[in-house]
Amino acid sequence: MARRLGILTGGGDCPGLNTVIRAVAKTAYAHGYELFGFLDGYTGLVEERYVRLDPPAISGLLHRGGTILGTSNRNDPFHFPVKVGDKVTYQDKSDQAIEILAKLDIEVLFVIGGDGTLAAARDFKAKGVRIVGIPKTIDNDLAATDQTFGFDTAVRTATEALDKLHTTAESHHRVMVLELMGRYAGWIALYSGLAGGADIILIPEIPWTLEGVLKKILARKAEGKPFSIVVVAEGVRSPAGELVVQRRVEDSVEKVRLGGIGQLVGRLIEEKSGIETRVTVLGHIQRGGSPSSYDRVLATRFGVAAAELAIRGLHGVMVCLRGNEISHVPLEEVAGRPRTVPPDHPLIHTARAIGISFGD
Ligand code: F6P
Repeated sequence: MARRLGILTGGGDCPGLNTVIRAVAKTAYAHGYELFGFLDGYTGLVEERYVRLDPPAISGLLHRGGTILGTSNRNDPFHFPVKVGDKVTYQDKSDQAIEILAKLDIEVLFVIGGDGTLAAARDFKAKGVRIVGIPKTIDNDLAATDQTFGFDTAVRTATEALDKLHTTAESHHRVMVLELMGRYAGWIALYSGLAGGADIILIPEIPWTLEGVLKKILARKAEGKPFSIVVVAEGVRSPAGELVVQRRVEDSVEKVRLGGIGQLVGRLIEEKSGIETRVTVLGHIQRGGSPSSYDRVLATRFGVAAAELAIRGLHGVMVCLRGNEISHVPLEEVAGRPRTVPPDHPLIHTARAIGISFGD
């Protein structure tokens, strides 16, 4: 019987998940291993729901968005939601998951995920599970890697949206506000704001004022440019210093869902500047579709590196990007330390040098 490896995708999806699955599977098969894919993140592991990822099953995955395995951000195996009647209770199902791995003879489990998924991976490692993490998230906010896959595609999608907003802003002499994802980090807003020619970029890491924003908009108007493009990361606080929360998802590891700061910023700009303002929330479009060529390459490099580590007998780590090299770090160094934009990041300097305002 061939030796066996397992894989799952956890947390919010992002472009490139299928690309990683394909790379892990191809590398595993080339070394004579079989790969089992657990469905819907850790839920499939706890409930013993899986598929065999043999060569026909991974055909056509390179450019396919989403994840063929399904995912969930409500299934922490150490605090697993169990419905009893109308009530949801939480139970530690980690031992059950470990028994399933043993029963299926899975030697190493690959988990492709963000902070929550990798925190559970770390806790499984502490219980003796052989596990390798692969960093994903459009937010690019994971510690210990210079970049996650999915980020580049999200930035491209946001840049395309900004290109489109530009033409209509100019025609109507309006202010266009674009709210972008990113949780508590401003990476997507910063990169796409630069790439898409935003006039103002608001990110959670740089406190802003309405006066700062209006100053830029009115200066542009005075220069004969009565339109402006404002990018707002969802984690930006209101002028009163509050996060704008769209909803709470109680059984999710990260319960807060941000959203709404764009509307608030847009309303304030219109009220105080007198310039007609429209707001667009790009939302989950940033998570959908085919991965960019950059993300396909990064996801493939991560997948191959993760599989090769496991085959060499190395585990308990997450593969990562350091400069242009693929490396790995212990799982303990990853979770619970979100990587936000340093206010002295070179791109902030670049943006300021060409007149982009951060509203400060
Ligand atoms: O972490 C990815 C992300 O898309 C964030 O940018 C966003 O805040 C959140 O997930 C949205 O989560 P959900 O898909 O549960 O609405």
